[in-house]
Amino acid sequence: MPLVSTAELVSAATDGKRAVAAFNVITLEHAEAIAAGAETAGAPAILQISENAVRFHGGSLTAIAAATAAVARASTAPLALHLDHVVSVELLHRAAAEGFGSVMFDASKLPYEENVRATADAVRWGRAHGIWVEAELGRVGGKEGEPPLDAHTPGVRTDPAEAAAYAEATGVDALAVAVGSSHAMTERTARLDHTLIARLREAVPVPLVLHGSSGVPDTEIRAAVAAGMAKINVGTALNTAFTGAVREFLAEDGRTVDPRKYLAPARTAMAATVAAFLGVLSPAPLPS
Ligand code: G3H
Ligand code: ZN
Repeated sequence: MPLVSTAELVSAATDGKRAVAAFNVITLEHAEAIAAGAETAGAPAILQISENAVRFHGGSLTAIAAATAAVARASTAPLALHLDHVVSVELLHRAAAEGFGSVMFDASKLPYEENVRATADAVRWGRAHGIWVEAELGRVGGKEGEPPLDAHTPGVRTDPAEAAAYAEATGVDALAVAVGSSHAMTERTARLDHTLIARLREAVPVPLVLHGSSGVPDTEIRAAVAAGMAKINVGTALNTAFTGAVREFLAEDGRTVDPRKYLAPARTAMAATVAAFLGVLSPAPLPS
């Protein structure tokens, strides 16, 4: 099926008071597992490639983007291609030519005024090239190995009034907010601030995005969606499943050298994790 766009998936999810899941792609096996999981769940999904993943591929976006897009096109599930956590303006400007319909431009480490300026520029560029732009206000910790941020540090939680002003000033299509999750958690122990999510939903006129969802338990994810989260980003949980399966295989068979022997069960384990997250997001319609 042809690629769909993040814009249409998020907008359909918002209309149905649901959320769409976005999964991180690092290798070809990630893309294949996400497509397989989406097919099993009968649900759409977003395949996202982060600037970190591009760095892993020697700074080259072209090959992993083309492979991911090819996997998505060959799938029977509606899948979109998204460039995630982009800090480099040079990388941002490559998104359209490399087949992406959406980008998350991440200026969250900058002071508020600079974040607004840089993001407004990114949105202007996005409008000119037909690209949907997500941005972040507040700090979802745990990026690039940094520790989870203390919830009481100023700026760690997104302030609703500031978020409303930010959405207005930048013109973003969606906003990632800091509400208690943290990137790269391998245990699902995060507790979200559901009152804050509801206040943000009330104050901010664009779809809200939850980052660092690997560490968020199913019940918390469901409650976050009920309170208004429209896009749920998952990365680490896929790697936990994948690496766990590799480790298990090699613990039992230390002599195998053919990577297909352990990559196949690892990809299957990752696909099952994708399907499980999609199952959490598509229970009976949420009460309006
Ligand atoms: O943008 C990607 C996500 O926020 C993934 O976070 O690896 O903690 O699930 P995670
Ligand atoms: Zn993230």
